[in-house]
Amino acid sequence: MRLKVVAGNWKMNKTYGEALMLATEVAYDASKVHHQRLLTILAPPFPFLSAVSRSIEGTEGMAVAAQNCHQEEAGAFTGEVSVPMIISAGARFVIIGHSERRMIFNESNELLLQKTKSAINHGLKPIFCVGETKAQRDSGKHFETIKEQLDETIFHLNEFSFLEIIIAYEPVWAIGTGVNASAAQAQEMHAFIRQTISGKFNQKLGDSVSIIYGGSVSPKNAKEIFSCKDVDGGLIGGAALNTEDFSNIRKAMISCLE
Ligand code: PGA
Repeated sequence: MRLKVVAGNWKMNKTYGEALMLATEVAYDASKVHHQRLLTILAPPFPFLSAVSRSIEGTEGMAVAAQNCHQEEAGAFTGEVSVPMIISAGARFVIIGHSERRMIFNESNELLLQKTKSAINHGLKPIFCVGETKAQRDSGKHFETIKEQLDETIFHLNEFSFLEIIIAYEPVWAIGTGVNASAAQAQEMHAFIRQTISGKFNQKLGDSVSIIYGGSVSPKNAKEIFSCKDVDGGLIGGAALNTEDFSNIRKAMISCLE
């Protein structure tokens, strides 16, 4: 049975005190309302990784993710953060290939593959993001775009490494816009990604990889999206900055498991 995941991507939000308060509240909520198949992940900004890790310590079914990593282990890369540093701060996951990294910071598929390899080699699990723009969807190129993103990145991994990955399907047009993909659109793309993985590797692997949806998930639409057969949870931006909304999104996921 696939692991279900609700992950909060805090992006460049919160100060130290605010981050600690949010993490503590979410951990308290997760200690009251949980399900053994659900993993709740918090992805705070780098400076708060270790404090947030400490504040969720001992809460079952919770983990911390970084929002990015550098591909090299160490060295003269002013301002960058390596995978061993992230692990030493207590994180078990790292978001790689978010569309904001791809578009604003010009991260190429080649670079994303290097980051992914570095993460896996050190035992940090990637949450690897793919997604098409509005123009690509409007011109009917969404499947092709996602296939290309997979082909040029994580499809270069071997099967053993691939097992470490969570995939996040995040249509760019749905991120931070309040316009989510419909449940039908999410299901269709998740099924496509799963089939493509099965075709590339094997069906067992396709069936076992968790594929989560991201893009304007809210307490209102979470249940409908999460109840789709091939949707294994969500990567939540805006709604993860608020304890109550994030809690309700977690509850929506749990209600789909009962
Ligand atoms: P959003 O962001 O939920 O605010 O749309 C999702 C994401 O960027 O991961």
